[in-house]
Amino acid sequence: MENEVLRAIRERRSIPRFRPERVPEEALEAVLEAGRWAPSYANLQPWEFIVVREEGTREALSTIAAKVTIYRRVIENADAVIVVAVDPQIDPLHCREDAAVAAQNMALAAHSLGLATYWIGVPEGGPGSAAALTRDLLGIPDGLQVVAILPLGYPDPDYRPQVDRRPLAEMVHRERYGARRDG
Ligand SMILES: Cc1cc2nc3c(=O)[nH]c(=O)nc-3n(C[C@H](O)[C@H](O)[C@H](O)COP(=O)(O)O)c2cc1C
Repeated sequence: MENEVLRAIRERRSIPRFRPERVPEEALEAVLEAGRWAPSYANLQPWEFIVVREEGTREALSTIAAKVTIYRRVIENADAVIVVAVDPQIDPLHCREDAAVAAQNMALAAHSLGLATYWIGVPEGGPGSAAALTRDLLGIPDGLQVVAILPLGYPDPDYRPQVDRRPLAEMVHRERYGARRDG
């Protein structure tokens, strides 16, 4: 089967290279709006999306991201960066999943608009961790968890992502783990 949603899900890629082009404010808003419409546990919506466009702040964020990714430069080259944070006091059980689905919604929305994102995962950590330094840099309250940094921009058309997926037959189990097919 095929439709626009299925195609966007399949064709979205993490792109670490962007063209030096401004992302219009309405496209950025549409991406953020897609995050807002993500599902969350009991519809608790524990999200905070911090949008960073200033060059100096992107550079500082890039230095921090070196702690968690080798592709930190993508933050400097992105026109905008969305930092996804959540409040565990609002959703103690599932706040990190809530963050992940919002981030994926935004990644798909960006793709549907001809933009691209590059997901940088931020594990929770103590003093000096990428999460703690990101909180300090952006003034995010200590109680919040930073889950993802999403650089956003127009993809470099020359960049050819080389990714594949394990076959469905290998990851789907029918009725019981290990049972690969019906009957
Ligand atoms: C939770 C999560 C964390 C990720 N963190 C990083 C990261 O820190 N650095 C990085 O280079 N890519 C990161 N990625 C991007 C993945 O490497 C990428 O999604 C994967 O290779 C599949 O490629 P695709 O997104 O183009 O389909 C992350 C993706 C997810 C979902």
